[in-house]
Amino acid sequence: MKTVSFTLNGIVQHWEVADGETLLSSLRRQGFFGVKFGGCENGECGACTVLLDGNPVNSCSLLTVQVEGRNIQTIEGMGEHPDQGWKKTAGLHPIQKALVESGAIQCGYCTPAFALAAKALLEKNPYPSESEVREAIAGILCRCTGYLKPVQAILKAASVLRGEKGEEGDVEEDSGLPLPMNWPAGTDGQPSTGAGSDIPQTVTLTRRKVFMPLMVETPEIRQKGLSRVGKPELKVDAIKLVQGKPAFAADIEKRGMLIAKVLHSPVAHARIKHIDLSKARALPGVAAVLCYKDIPRVVYSTAGQSDPIPGPLDTFSLDSKVRFVGDRVAFVAAETEEIAEQALKLIEVEYEPLPAILDARDAMKTDAPIIHDEPEYVNFADSNPHKNLAAQIHIDIGDVEKGFKEADRIYEAEYVVPKVQQAHIEPHVVVTYWDEDDRLVIRTSTQVPFHVRRILAPVLGLPVKRIRVIKPRIGGGFGGKQEVLIEDVAAHLTIATGRPVIYEYTREEEFIAARSRHPMRIRMKTGVKLDGTITANEMRVLSDTGAYGCHGLTVTGNTGHKSMALYVGDGPYRKSPNIRFYADVVYTNTPPAGAYRGYGVPQGFWPVERHMERISRDLGLDPIAFRLKNAIREGELHPFSTAWSEGREPRPEIIQTVGLEECVRQGKALIGWDQKFGNPEWHRVEGKPHLRRGIGVALVMQGTAIPYLDMGGASIKMNDDGSFNLLVGATDLGTGSDTVLAQMAAEVLGVPVEDILVYSSDTDFTPFDKGAYASSTTYISGAAVVKAAEEVAEKIKKRAARMIKERYSEIEVTPEDILLEDRKAMAPGGQFVTLAEVALNALHHTDQEQIMGIGSYYSPVSPPPFAAQFAEVTVDVETGQVTVDRLVMAVDSGVIVNPVTASGQIEGGMTQALGYAVCEEMVYDKEGRAREKDLVDYHIFRANEMPQLETVFIQTYEPSHPFGVKAVAEIPMDGVAPAVGNAVFDACGADIFENPITPERLWRALKAKQSFTGN
Ligand code: FES
Ligand code: FES
Repeated sequence: MKTVSFTLNGIVQHWEVADGETLLSSLRRQGFFGVKFGGCENGECGACTVLLDGNPVNSCSLLTVQVEGRNIQTIEGMGEHPDQGWKKTAGLHPIQKALVESGAIQCGYCTPAFALAAKALLEKNPYPSESEVREAIAGILCRCTGYLKPVQAILKAASVLRGEKGEEGDVEEDSGLPLPMNWPAGTDGQPSTGAGSDIPQTVTLTRRKVFMPLMVETPEIRQKGLSRVGKPELKVDAIKLVQGKPAFAADIEKRGMLIAKVLHSPVAHARIKHIDLSKARALPGVAAVLCYKDIPRVVYSTAGQSDPIPGPLDTFSLDSKVRFVGDRVAFVAAETEEIAEQALKLIEVEYEPLPAILDARDAMKTDAPIIHDEPEYVNFADSNPHKNLAAQIHIDIGDVEKGFKEADRIYEAEYVVPKVQQAHIEPHVVVTYWDEDDRLVIRTSTQVPFHVRRILAPVLGLPVKRIRVIKPRIGGGFGGKQEVLIEDVAAHLTIATGRPVIYEYTREEEFIAARSRHPMRIRMKTGVKLDGTITANEMRVLSDTGAYGCHGLTVTGNTGHKSMALYVGDGPYRKSPNIRFYADVVYTNTPPAGAYRGYGVPQGFWPVERHMERISRDLGLDPIAFRLKNAIREGELHPFSTAWSEGREPRPEIIQTVGLEECVRQGKALIGWDQKFGNPEWHRVEGKPHLRRGIGVALVMQGTAIPYLDMGGASIKMNDDGSFNLLVGATDLGTGSDTVLAQMAAEVLGVPVEDILVYSSDTDFTPFDKGAYASSTTYISGAAVVKAAEEVAEKIKKRAARMIKERYSEIEVTPEDILLEDRKAMAPGGQFVTLAEVALNALHHTDQEQIMGIGSYYSPVSPPPFAAQFAEVTVDVETGQVTVDRLVMAVDSGVIVNPVTASGQIEGGMTQALGYAVCEEMVYDKEGRAREKDLVDYHIFRANEMPQLETVFIQTYEPSHPFGVKAVAEIPMDGVAPAVGNAVFDACGADIFENPITPERLWRALKAKQSFTGN
């Protein structure tokens, strides 16, 4: 140990540290939890940024002994809440304020790093350009925002710090809104932003001097006169996140907490012939080492889904067989990370290797090895472990063969989509401990706290009631945390030792032992008449679920359910479409796939939208007109609604709102489609003959929740001062769902959002919610909140009417007459009592009661959001390099509750989808070992690599929801890859069947220039 003296946030410190301890570890050990761990070993994420003598550095790459005599700044020293009771502080730093006000904070895991990097930049360069800002934060990865709002925030903070007027806090709620429905084309007046353009990416928004997306609304929405719903309210958790408060799962101190590590399999398929833990157990500082012999053998599914799990039960916490490189072999708990790692090396394992399946096409061959030969395996639906089949789907709608016979042309092709990672910046992390009542507490970064409790109870041998799951803030999930992935590891070790245990994935573990998007091979066959009428459409899928079947059925089902529902055909086919969707979901000896934002739908739209583009061009039809001719319309039956519902009973559903045509009109106008598409001049890049511009489109639809299944609950109680506690089981992953739920409650109760104190979620205190997935929180949990708020409002009105009558004895007023507004309960004549008076009256004075309400909601329908996604690219035909210059998305997500958080969802989603389009891919060698094990090899977009992002919301009013909302979170994942693929085709005629469009794939396609003509 050594004593290191340095200045931390202006205070001289003398810390005892070990020689090899990183600054990140020392800071977090001392409670500076604003410094985040991104799981990396190579300093690639920047979440751990601190300022060293004013310069941003990764604290994970620096030893604490190296900071002797230096000056360190962390987020804790930057600014704080201005009002702390009788003590007032200088408040938040202008950079922190700007991050909050501009909606730059989603999960907030990267926020302290952005704030510090911005501080370093602005202290040196008060007048940064946009590209200088992007360079300054390029070392910090954000998986949520798409960087647009953080960049806007830093530019805004620069302006404030320069003392310029009219910038601070000037979010003009209505400026420029709404756009007229006949909003004209090409409003930016710029024909191009092509390669080499230096048009700033924030131009669309900064020219308006507001951080609002473009919005189109129907008169119906205006007439509602909503005061909180539809407004850019600040995120309810933004202030704590921007201060780096200990809000995340790992930000907790527990006396005697052990560190857990897992021994992962180095082989793809093997039996464990012999395992010896004795040397590891004997190592001083080791508290427990467990293998499959030490814990009960309970089969379960790790998929965080409602009961019964719609998939096979095929997983054990630990097993005598390993099924992929990265599978679990043993668990260790030790006093320190170093001891735990040493112990892993002392575990002796002898494997009996088995032949492995590494290509899904081999899984169902007759001589294929059987991956799941365990007798405990529990089938679901059509799974068959003897054929390595985790699930099978056969859906025939109408008469597909007749439809093909009636076609003038049949088009067939095979498309391939890759395995990709959610890559949330906060790794999976869990802390477990026994509480004073001998109940097991699981504090975990999860999207599904209630499913974690239910699924783990039998695995741990505990009744549900003896488990409490706490979900703190989550540093991004994107479906990766809709999995009961690591909670059992820490829980088994706490049971074994009686001590608190923390288990946190490294980035490498995220790649080798977490979940991913299902890779698929998809064969399309489409019958079309020469006028462009689709007569029959068929999709056949081979989906690779990896070694375990978690989410295999439901993800793959959605691949067809959403993408193949969009095009029903025209004329008589519109009334009676012919659609076929067949899928085999097979096991392989690769890391299991699972849920990833979009949940199978992005896999479906790559082939569907590439196929539609190619058909329309072959028939000489306008690609957009062809699509709209065949696309589903308002009032029509969702064709899959009578055929399939995630393994449950399907029921017919009429689609009530379709804003697709307006999405197309507005999106075309924004990107300048009519000036660019088919214009040879625009496609050329002056003076650069090797470059070609292209423009592409994709139309997409998603779903909103799972009908007759997804359920959310909410409860609201009134406090003495007229504020309210809103308790929801819903899980805010950084999406802003806590905020939009608070907005809905505030709307009903007539109070500002700051009067709604949201708590989500804790299985002991909050009502049940199935969790954050299927784009359902605003819709399902929102409807539950509205019900709870209406119950509270009714009680308030009843009491208020009585109080008003007592106070103003001359008037007659009934509860129905009362309006809740501005923290008051008002009679039609203007007489009122304040909500604080109502609360005091209820709690202390007359006929006392706790004013409370509860609500729960499930939906009989799943109203689809729709979108038109546009992309502009520049292709280098010599190297195969694709540069995406601009992405425009026009989205019908129903009423937008919060334009800032919703546009943040679209920007972040488009950015993730952009990686799917051009660079993200997980590849394995012939032994089944991962090629990508960090965020260097697996490239996600950085701030200085981004195209221009633009969003326009086409608001429809979905009648099945009290505020007319539909889902927004997943749809941005669906259209970017095919729109980019179609733009590449437009640019250079290269037909790409497999994404991502890497330079090599494009170069090969250019060489092949495959022809595609129907027969
Ligand atoms: S760069 Fe330090 S944790 Fe990622
Ligand atoms: S807000 Fe940046 S990683 Fe989530």
